[in-house]
Amino acid sequence: MKFFLDTASINEITSLNKTGMVDGITTNPSLVAKTGQSFLDIIADICKIIDGPVSAEVAATDANNMIKEGHKLASISDNVAVKVPLTADGLIACKALSDAGTMVNVTLCFSAAQAILAAKAGATFVSPFIGRLDDLGQDGLGLISEIHTIFSNYPEINTQILVASARSPRHVVESAKIGADIVTIPPSTLRQLFNHPLTDTGLKAFMSDWEISGQTIL
Ligand code: E4P
Repeated sequence: MKFFLDTASINEITSLNKTGMVDGITTNPSLVAKTGQSFLDIIADICKIIDGPVSAEVAATDANNMIKEGHKLASISDNVAVKVPLTADGLIACKALSDAGTMVNVTLCFSAAQAILAAKAGATFVSPFIGRLDDLGQDGLGLISEIHTIFSNYPEINTQILVASARSPRHVVESAKIGADIVTIPPSTLRQLFNHPLTDTGLKAFMSDWEISGQTIL
């Protein structure tokens, strides 16, 4: 399973990239707004740090302008994935950009029916938002399972399931059990994945016993 980091913070990306766990980045207009910096500059800077896909979202809502914006975003770097919303216009833009050889991430997917449409439009990635469904008392992971079953029925579908709005290690583990291709997580959730209290206490005990033994390795 691939891990994308869901942030536009250059500091966080630089820091967590050193773990070797970051396969790509997703941004959205809200995450970019938090930085207070120029969108185009941020995407260019992220692409200098990360080799994998970097999602950059269009701002237009009509297909023609989404396509124009998509071409501009894609011209920043070969690893830009243009993010378009799951609307009728978004899917027209997805098809046009995909046909032109650009990676496209269809975002704001909340149903299996929408995921099927994204696949038919040639999306590279479809992003079902599980946390936002959970917030409404619906079953986000159930949606991932449903989409995975459907896509598995059609070997010709190349669209990758990018689990979005994932907010906990449990979301990551359950998505992996289902077989999702990618999960995008905030920096805080990636850090949480490393931690277990028994690892901390176990290491402390080992280090203490090692010191008592008086030995060295180097
Ligand atoms: C992914 O592409 C989205 O930017 C993100 O996962 C949304 O997460 P949120 O629902 O926690 O804002």
